[in-house]
Amino acid sequence: MAIPEDVIDQIQDRADIVEVISRYIPLKKTGRSYKALCPFHHEKTPSFVVSPDKKIFHCFGCGAGGNVFSFVIRHENLEFPEVIEMLAKKTGVILPRNITRQKEDVSSFASQLYKINELACQFFQTCLAGDDTARDYLNSRGIGDETIKFFKIGYAPNAWEALLSFFKKRGVQEAVLEKAGLAIANDRGGYYDRFRHRVIFPIIDLKERIVGFGGRVLDASLPKYINSPETYIYSKGRNLYGLNFSKEDIKKRGYVLVVEGYLDFIIPYQAGIANLIATLGTALTIDQVKLLKRFTNTVIMVYDPDEAGEAASLRNLDIFISEDVNVYVAELPSGYDPDSYIRKFGAEEFTRVIKSSKNLFDYKLDKTASRFDIKSAHGKARIAAEMLPTIARISNAVLKSNLVKRLAEALSVDEEAIRTELKKVKPDYEARHYIIEPQEGKKDFRSAEKMVLSLMLEEGRFVKMVGENLSIDEFKDSAVRDIAKVIIELYKERKEIRPAKLINHLENKEEAAILISEVAGLAETFQDKEKAVTDCIARIKKDNIRDELDRLQVAIKAAHNSKDENKVKRLLVEYDSLVRNSKV
Ligand code: UTP
Ligand code: MN
Repeated sequence: MAIPEDVIDQIQDRADIVEVISRYIPLKKTGRSYKALCPFHHEKTPSFVVSPDKKIFHCFGCGAGGNVFSFVIRHENLEFPEVIEMLAKKTGVILPRNITRQKEDVSSFASQLYKINELACQFFQTCLAGDDTARDYLNSRGIGDETIKFFKIGYAPNAWEALLSFFKKRGVQEAVLEKAGLAIANDRGGYYDRFRHRVIFPIIDLKERIVGFGGRVLDASLPKYINSPETYIYSKGRNLYGLNFSKEDIKKRGYVLVVEGYLDFIIPYQAGIANLIATLGTALTIDQVKLLKRFTNTVIMVYDPDEAGEAASLRNLDIFISEDVNVYVAELPSGYDPDSYIRKFGAEEFTRVIKSSKNLFDYKLDKTASRFDIKSAHGKARIAAEMLPTIARISNAVLKSNLVKRLAEALSVDEEAIRTELKKVKPDYEARHYIIEPQEGKKDFRSAEKMVLSLMLEEGRFVKMVGENLSIDEFKDSAVRDIAKVIIELYKERKEIRPAKLINHLENKEEAAILISEVAGLAETFQDKEKAVTDCIARIKKDNIRDELDRLQVAIKAAHNSKDENKVKRLLVEYDSLVRNSKV
């Protein structure tokens, strides 16, 4: 059973946002709102604002924002139902028994893609059952039949259209498969399977939905792995491979092992070491760190010493420090990864390596000290230069001061000298990590879409205008789209639309909170709001038509190259009518 809306509303009405936030940080009244130093990034002048009227907070420095629930979720690293429970107690609201998460609300296109991935996964699993070579390969890597089933591992046959024809029989269009990342368009206007002759590892999200796949060759050919591209439902920087399987164990053990590859996840898991996640070979993003923080505050990076020794990969870990995560580093012997190490020496030996991990500061100091001459003045300066940015990121003053002391001792220099140098280190991560920057080329559509959102929050009649003139899929930004969809639904149900309440209705609350708090009030000062709505709608439509025309042009060229004159004709008619109807 989901938490009933009226209960959420009741809690929100009773929980005074100013009162709740001021339990965590000191707020200062300025005019109708309250200001503070933002607790979510380091700053010297306050850019964190709480509006009791709108019941939201927003930080102009780092972009953090949301309602009272968002604040507690972020500050305490809790999940929505947990925060509801906590604030219900504080405000004396009685919760119905057996509450669970709110029922998810996904767009029909998203659910179509989940369904397709589910079917594709079943197809790959069936293919694996019928292919000895692929099964032998997995067995040779130490993956047993139980494990194959558990992780839904499959096999994509050695053919160009195996999956395509499987879906053709089920009436799924090739273009949709392309959007799912399963098919690739060729330059002759046709499509082919992305995954061919590879063992397939499905990537599953926290809601147990298959969001993408990774496929490994069975031999030494390259590329070794092929992965799903970014799709409507899969964003690499926001997923962590295996977290759906390991989250409970991570909570239970109080720390998480971070490994790189699919096999580095599966082999330890099979051996009973289940509190881990895999990064799939990419650098961690701030979103992934935040995701992990929902389950633990302690991370052990399991590294091959060759790569871990590199300054670049150590710098990569600083992202954890600025998020107040305790980071440890465990080093395997050179040339081993968790998979090969466990297969050779066993899980117990592996656990011993994990137990001997060092905290990031000591580890980094060791590594850097071994690269430079710690006795020479030049060497000391180089070591300090590597260590200071890490120390600068630590927000806890006591901890920071302690590390300054330890660095001074290690280098046998005066503590004051280190402190002076530390002051010169710019906390360059501030803006970079927190502000949700529009991706290249997306700036324009984001601004029109955000503006529409802001106007929809201002007045009901604007929601009606948008609902009548734009279809939901015309919003390109998925975060904006999700929010707009909920606003329109609420409007149709004749429900009140308030920024602070809206956040509660969204599935991806963290992202929604940031965006809503950013746009709430954006349109307040507009002179002619109605014209602004009309302009923005026109702008969004125009952008979409441009995209569609680009797509048609490519398709026409491809059809032309493959001498498919009928297709060319058909596409040209489509192109013409689009141009005529839209007056671009
Ligand atoms: P590695 O090259 O360390 O391979 O890549 P691995 O995981 O040990 O692979 P096995 O043991 O030979 O099967 C680590 C991870 O980086 C990603 C994959 O997710 C892989 O598991 N990767 C690697 C790719 O996406 N593409 C590649 O071509 C290689
Ligand atoms: Mn490996």
